[in-house]
Amino acid sequence: MKQKTNFSCTQCGYQSPKWLGKCPDCGAWNTMIEEQQSPPSARGGRIVSAKSVAMPIGDVPPQAEARMGCGISELDRVLGGGLVPGSLVLIGGDPGIGKSTLLLQAMHHLALDGAVLYVSGEESAAQTRLRGERLGVYGRQLLVLAENSLEEIISYVERLKPRAVVVDSIQTVWTQSLESAPGSVSQVRESAGRLMMLAKGSGIPVFIVGHVTKDGAIAGPRVLEHIVDTVLYFEGDRGHPYRILRAVKNRFGSTNEIGVFEMKSGGLHEVSNPSELFLSERPIDAPGSVVTASLEGSRTLLVEIQALVTASTYGTPRRTTIGVDSNRLALLVAVLEKKAGLHLGGQDIFLNVAGGARLNEPAADLAMMLAVASSHLDRPVPNQTIVFGEVGLAGEVRAVTQPEPRISEALKLGFSRCLLPAGNMKRLTPGGMELDSVSTVQEALQLLL
Ligand code: TYD
Ligand code: MG
Repeated sequence: MKQKTNFSCTQCGYQSPKWLGKCPDCGAWNTMIEEQQSPPSARGGRIVSAKSVAMPIGDVPPQAEARMGCGISELDRVLGGGLVPGSLVLIGGDPGIGKSTLLLQAMHHLALDGAVLYVSGEESAAQTRLRGERLGVYGRQLLVLAENSLEEIISYVERLKPRAVVVDSIQTVWTQSLESAPGSVSQVRESAGRLMMLAKGSGIPVFIVGHVTKDGAIAGPRVLEHIVDTVLYFEGDRGHPYRILRAVKNRFGSTNEIGVFEMKSGGLHEVSNPSELFLSERPIDAPGSVVTASLEGSRTLLVEIQALVTASTYGTPRRTTIGVDSNRLALLVAVLEKKAGLHLGGQDIFLNVAGGARLNEPAADLAMMLAVASSHLDRPVPNQTIVFGEVGLAGEVRAVTQPEPRISEALKLGFSRCLLPAGNMKRLTPGGMELDSVSTVQEALQLLL
């Protein structure tokens, strides 16, 4: 059968009948490549094995929650409380960040109760063994298969019926039903679709690894996000030992959860108290440094926000952020200029969240503003103080959700003073913390700087 050609974006999977310089969906340039469409036979699959019948929603038998623990509590939490049978989980991340290491460690635990299959398309079985030795991972039930053919992998899984499967990585898997090269959008998508059918049909959970690709002809994990049940991204700076596992999509749990790990010579170690880690190298009494408490799913993280404000040497001052949204910074800087009278127009502003964390909660607004003001005025924020609060365009400080866990996490780490929105003061019992409430940005600046 002749296969139809099409153009697909290697970043997001957008398809177009003609070539385009810029992907209309994700906006990336020069990522559209020519692909063959899958033949209809390969696409029309069923993901439920028995014949489906429509029934009233209340009569649908409840699914027994039999999640499997992976033995790594940071991973289990991000998954929503363990691995759901029959789920397809994508772990994306930059090459070398530690995806294979994490999954090999998880498989080691799962193999204690039955056979598991680790399919490696990137490394030989001997290389995987070498890595296993380094991690102290062994066990007769952890089976390693070096294979690229999707058909072989599926037939192996159907014969072996393991407790769980890892396919490392999806970009190396290749199906005979398509003529395009391994790693192309159609191959990656087709392989993931077939693995989804395998997982749903057999009830075996499948992890797939996807490398983030910057450009070129290899499809990245974003192409798969809509196919799989759960998308986890493994992030971190290769210069730092810390890694953050973040759920971006989860059909079986919250997407706010994060898991924090430290990469050591013996593999990934869980970091159960990340606040301590994020604050460990904090300079004392340095202008521009402010600690805030951010909620990440069910957990509170204390993180240090650092700002550096310097006179700009170019016509247009720079606004550079790492770990926070730069539009948010621009907005907060405008409020600082208009409402607090700071002259920041001719200043370059750099804002960084120390330790590689990422904040996307408006509760960090007040701390970001104070960090900028503190650096600009060259006056430090008192050392044992934490700050949280959302800031509106009129310079008002708005209440945030759940102030209590933020305060108690700060108390645990030895903070004695907390600057918080006046709207949060109701029903709060101080319990050892000195609480300073503010309702405007001006008040906050007066109190702390
Ligand atoms: P890896 O899991 O191979 O990354 P990925 O599968 O995401 O490409 O991790 C590779 C990096 O981790 C490599 O730079 C070496 C480092 N590493 C350690 O520091 N300690 C270890 O015990 C292992 C196995 C790897
Ligand atoms: Mg790998």
